[in-house]
Amino acid sequence: MRPTSVPFLAGLVALTVRADPTWPASTDDLEEIMYQLQGTGARLFSDVISPCTNEASGPGRQNAAEWLRVGFHDMATANTYFGTGGLDGSLQFELTNTENTGPGHATTLKFLGNYVSSRTSLADLIAAAVYASVRSCGGPVVPVRAGRQDATEAGNPGVPQPQNSIGIFTDQFDRMGFSVPEMIQVLACGHTLGGVHSPEFPDLVPANSAPDDEAALDTSVAVFDNKVVTEYLAGTTKNPLVVGPSARIGKNSDFKVFNADANATMATLADPATFMNTCKTVLQKMIDTVPSGVVLTADPVTPYAVKPVDLQLTLNPDGQTLLLSGYIRVRTTNLPASSISSLTLTYKDRNGGNDCGSCATTATVQGSAAGFDDTFAFFPIAANIDTSTGISSFTVALHLSDSTTQIYDNNGHSYPITDAVLLQTPQSCLLQGTGALTVSALVRNDRTSLPVTLGVTYPVPRNTPDQNPVPALQNATVSMTKGKCVGDYTFYTGTYTIPGGLSFNARVDVISGDGDDVQVDDFNDAGKLAGTCRDYTGVASCSGAGPTSGEPSSSPTGTPTTTPTPTDTPTSATSATPTATLSHREIIGGYTLVSCWTEGANVRALRGASFAYDGMTLESCMGNCSGFAYWGAEYGRECYCGNSLDASSAEAPLSECDMVCSGDATEYCGAGNRLELYSTTATQSPTPTPTATLAVKPTVGAYSFVGCITEGVGIRALSEDSYAADDMTLESCAAFCSDFTYFGTEYGRECR
Ligand SMILES: *[C@@H]1O[C@H](CO)[C@@H](O)[C@H](O)[C@H]1NC(C)=O
Ligand SMILES: *[C@@H]1O[C@H](CO)[C@@H](O)[C@H](O)[C@H]1NC(C)=O
Ligand SMILES: *[C@@H]1O[C@H](CO)[C@@H](O)[C@H](O)[C@H]1NC(C)=O
Repeated sequence: MRPTSVPFLAGLVALTVRADPTWPASTDDLEEIMYQLQGTGARLFSDVISPCTNEASGPGRQNAAEWLRVGFHDMATANTYFGTGGLDGSLQFELTNTENTGPGHATTLKFLGNYVSSRTSLADLIAAAVYASVRSCGGPVVPVRAGRQDATEAGNPGVPQPQNSIGIFTDQFDRMGFSVPEMIQVLACGHTLGGVHSPEFPDLVPANSAPDDEAALDTSVAVFDNKVVTEYLAGTTKNPLVVGPSARIGKNSDFKVFNADANATMATLADPATFMNTCKTVLQKMIDTVPSGVVLTADPVTPYAVKPVDLQLTLNPDGQTLLLSGYIRVRTTNLPASSISSLTLTYKDRNGGNDCGSCATTATVQGSAAGFDDTFAFFPIAANIDTSTGISSFTVALHLSDSTTQIYDNNGHSYPITDAVLLQTPQSCLLQGTGALTVSALVRNDRTSLPVTLGVTYPVPRNTPDQNPVPALQNATVSMTKGKCVGDYTFYTGTYTIPGGLSFNARVDVISGDGDDVQVDDFNDAGKLAGTCRDYTGVASCSGAGPTSGEPSSSPTGTPTTTPTPTDTPTSATSATPTATLSHREIIGGYTLVSCWTEGANVRALRGASFAYDGMTLESCMGNCSGFAYWGAEYGRECYCGNSLDASSAEAPLSECDMVCSGDATEYCGAGNRLELYSTTATQSPTPTPTATLAVKPTVGAYSFVGCITEGVGIRALSEDSYAADDMTLESCAAFCSDFTYFGTEYGRECR
């Protein structure tokens, strides 16, 4: 960091901190995948490899070791003389090649495939997987630069095989760009984790000769340390690629390589610190080996000190204000959350000026997240911004408990945000089983002469004979239809049916304009849309002349010019109610409105805690329910909290939650037997060192994980047989369903 002191207020010190990439950056999605591992906004990337001993795919299969192998097998066909191959994701097309035997590659690629998007390639995810698996096991931080591109077909063969002679090994590694010492280093660093499995290599590990059919490469199978080196040098190693049957049949490849320079390189790696530093360098070289023409980012992906996350503008029901929601995420690794009293987001109006009045909103911490080496605090943003003045950018000030202030101004650019076009989430929906997507956008009235398009990017299974488990990305563009005008904005709607109904990691873009004048609200996660679209009930007289033109600029200089574009006639001339109107609130603090919700059958929907008092507001109920995943207000004066909803409770029309909060006449607090229900998926603090990690299991016996799938419409997704039990596990359900192709568990205790 290079803080520069600037005058702020007498007696106070404000530092302008500039250490982050300029936001938004092309690597933002990958950054979250790598560092938001647990807690609020968790991307769950490390679930199957953390802790390092995790055998999420079955006994004897350290998933961390499998991830590291995938990095090498994908890269190992590189030809640096021709500039072909390298870390390019081509392994997904090479799984039936006998060089890539065993289930580990497919399991790993299937997991990583869940994260592939237009912003993050499979090859970058493999690089991130090398970082994550090494770090999860106590190894060094392998720097991950981004920008890899995915191959579209299998590459040349050429993964080194145990029977090769040292001459062939040397040639193969030379083709990859590795010298003899580097060859030895990358092999030692890769073989500090995991073992050799009997089913794939029965001639090296005879059946029933090793626990769980796995012969370890060193005695610390799930620790990234240099025992693979020291045990080899001491002559005590049981590494099946050094001693045992492999030595008798010439397949002792680790011995051949380790011994290639008469143990000189291995001797240097006997020093633990040298081992760690060397592995960091050589594993980075491995993941940075890419086809010619691929340009990696200059800097590795590191966590931002301050980062806007999931920011969204939404037109409020009053038709006159935009809600800015989302989070400012603050890295608390070296700045404890407890030392941050509050955070202020200060914004510029649409033209870069201060016509928005106070132009600021303040937040306090709610929610935290953690990566391997970092922690983060989340500050929920909820600012109502007048549509007539809008927003173009903001800066963030952290107010610290020692009375100093740190200002983050995005390296002098301010954090840009456009109000020209926005995805209107309450009026957008995705019916997950069918893939039926309806998207509503709002476009500022000065842009309604320009085309408005919906872009959808979605994964589709390949179902190819080469057993590629990574979905292909497809995209579609649909032109959106103009709807009603509300105040300074006009609705546009587009529909699309995602083929196959698969919605995991489907992304939605709404685009206003074309050519040189394009404004977008893009990369919105379709999976976060509700199942049904709500009607927009608000009315505000159409301001057809539109606000001032000129795109939001981060440099608040240009003088705004007014270009009337009366392209729309008012559909509603009802004069809008000023100030705060009675409405359902989409966002309260870090929580989102689920819907109106019924109580259970003779049981409360939420049973964690309850409160009743006059003067209740949504905010006070949220305060009473701090730490719970769900809360809801009922009957104007009751408040219930819980971490789960009773199964016998159900969604009700929002219009049935029609009682005003006793403490705030602009908010609804449910009704009789109706909860105004709010939820968050992760406001709880992360558990830093869980003994048994809660995780998706990629495989259970012979079954592999497909995804989280909805029930059918009026029909069970899996209807042939079922049972329920309070001690349900994936394994017991798999056993029950062993005659079927699919099995699934539901609601914690049901199996179909
Ligand atoms: C290298 O070390 C191994 C293991 O101790 C040993 O078997 C081998 O003979 C050594 N190589 C040389 C050239 O000394
Ligand atoms: C859509 O797919 C095509 C072909 O793969 C690609 O060239 C284009 O960039 C994609 N567009 C978007 C918006 O992702
Ligand atoms: C619930 O919140 C209200 C309003 O903030 C507060 O006065 C009350 O003490 C809280 N109740 C409990 C039991 O915490």
